[in-house]
Amino acid sequence: MSLNPEKVTVPRPELFDFHGVWMAPNFTDNWENVQKFEARPDDILIATYPKAGTTWVSYILDLLYFGQTSPERQTSIPIYERVPFMELFIPGKVSGKDLADNLPTTPRLIKTHFPVQFVPKTFWEQNCRIIYVARNGKDNMVSYFHFDTMNSTQPEAGTWNNYFQRFIQGKMMYGSWYDHVRSWWKKKETYPNLHYMFYEDLIEDTQQEIDKLCSFLGLSPSAEITEMVVSGVQFDKMKNNQMANYSNVPFMDFNISHFMRKGKVGDWKNHFTVAQNEEFDDDYKKKMKDSTLQFRNEI
Ligand code: A3P
Repeated sequence: MSLNPEKVTVPRPELFDFHGVWMAPNFTDNWENVQKFEARPDDILIATYPKAGTTWVSYILDLLYFGQTSPERQTSIPIYERVPFMELFIPGKVSGKDLADNLPTTPRLIKTHFPVQFVPKTFWEQNCRIIYVARNGKDNMVSYFHFDTMNSTQPEAGTWNNYFQRFIQGKMMYGSWYDHVRSWWKKKETYPNLHYMFYEDLIEDTQQEIDKLCSFLGLSPSAEITEMVVSGVQFDKMKNNQMANYSNVPFMDFNISHFMRKGKVGDWKNHFTVAQNEEFDDDYKKKMKDSTLQFRNEI
C-alpha cells in the first residue's frame, strides 16, 4: 500500500493519553502489530521527535547505502517508502509496519517518532543500530507549528501563542519534547548501539556528521561517494527533489507551508516574543536540570 498523490483533507485528530504520552489514532491503531515487529540484527532505526531532521538523516542513510547501487531508486521511490514510518497506520492506505516488513533492502532503514519506551522490544534484543536525531526545542517547536498548520492528519495548530503553551506543557503529538530528548539521551548509558546526533551539528558541518555516522555504521565510503552524499542532501537540493520533499503526499497543503520549509538554526527568533523566550528558558532550566544534554539554540 502506498500514499495516493491526490490531495485530501481529513478531519483533524484529537490527542489522547496513550500509556502516558499524547498520541492520536494514526500512530496507535496498529500498536499490537507494531509491538510484534520482528527486527533483524542489521535493521537500522532512525528515531526522532517530529521535526528534528528525520527526513534529512533518512536521506543521508539511503544515499550512503543505496545511492551507488540503485540509482533508479533515487528517481522513482519517495523517501517515505524507502524509509517507512513504522507506526503510521491509515486504514486501507498505509501501514508503515507492513512497508517495513516488506522492505527488499539490506539493511532495512526504518523511521519512528516513538519515545524510547514505545520501541518494539526486538530492536533491543537484536542489538540493532539506532540513530537518534535531536533539535533544539525552540526551533523544533517552530518547525512543528508550521507542520501542524499544513498537515491535516495532525491536530489543529491553533494560534502561535496557544501552540507555544501546549509545547511547554507537552501536549503535542508524541508528547513532551523534553521527555523525548532526555529519555533517549539516557538510553545511551545502557545501549551502546545508539548514535545520538544533533540537527545543529548537521547544519554546521554536514560532512563531519556524515563521517561520524559512517564510523558508527562501520561504513568507509570513498571520498567521491561522501561528496555525492554531502552535496545531494543540501537543503535546496532536497527541497527541489520530488522524491524527498513530500510534495506528493495528499494531506499536506504546500500553499500553507512547505515540508522543506527553511532548514535553519535560529528561526525561533522570528517567532518567539521576548516574554516567550524568557518563559521558555526558565521552564527549560527546571525541566532539564537533571540532564547532561546540551542544545545549541544558535550557531
Ligand atoms: P524547518 O521546518 O525548520 O524548515 P522532519 O524530517 O523530522 O520532519 O524535520 C523537518 C525539518 O527538517 C524542517 O525544518 C526541514 O526543513 C528540515 N530539513 C529537512 N531536510 C533538511 C536539509 N537538507 N537541511 C536542513 N534542514 C532540513
